Amino acid sequence: MRLAMVKLGVLGSGKGSNFAALLAGISSGQIPASVEIVLSDNAGAGILDLARNANIPAGTIDESRFKTRLSDDIEASVAERLKAANVELLVLAGYMRMVKTPLLEAFPHRMINIHPSLLPQFPGLEAWKQALQAGATETGCTVHYVDDGMDTGEIIAQERVAILPGDSAASLHARIQEAEHRLLPRVIAEICAEIAKL
Ligand code: GRF
Repeated sequence: MRLAMVKLGVLGSGKGSNFAALLAGISSGQIPASVEIVLSDNAGAGILDLARNANIPAGTIDESRFKTRLSDDIEASVAERLKAANVELLVLAGYMRMVKTPLLEAFPHRMINIHPSLLPQFPGLEAWKQALQAGATETGCTVHYVDDGMDTGEIIAQERVAILPGDSAASLHARIQEAEHRLLPRVIAEICAEIAKL
């Protein structure tokens, strides 16, 4: 087994609590990896501040044509930036756009996403609200490989979260995020251990 850490890249659009959990997992020694680069399509995203505070190269993705995906040329440049940073595993940690061919071809079976439901139930936006509206008694979170569909890629692992009487969207989302912060570092640690064997 090689001794080097697995090199991670992270894409995110929001506050970055899953990224913070990933950094904590690296600091504690749970995850044999280093984060080489963080990119965000939202210049004001908290995830960029977290990266800068940790002295991790952080940059923005400037996309004005589309809201739900990147233009092909911009996505190709993102893939180049990640490759230039020697990224081996790409983590989507609250990245709110669909991924297309440039990134899929650059990171085949090497790109994972965290989603706040037990997929295949409730893909798409605000999955915790979807679960409440459907009257579900249980939801959770899923880590899956990324394909070109919306939250349709191969499921790697899930954690269940009970929906309690009186749960609001905010209280349920908070409990799902606690589960995400356990699940994502655990899965990344397992994948990094596999990559390190190659
Ligand atoms: C998480 O709930 C994740 O499941 C979803 O986006 C949210 C990101 O939250 N894909 P954060 O930015 O990691 O706090």
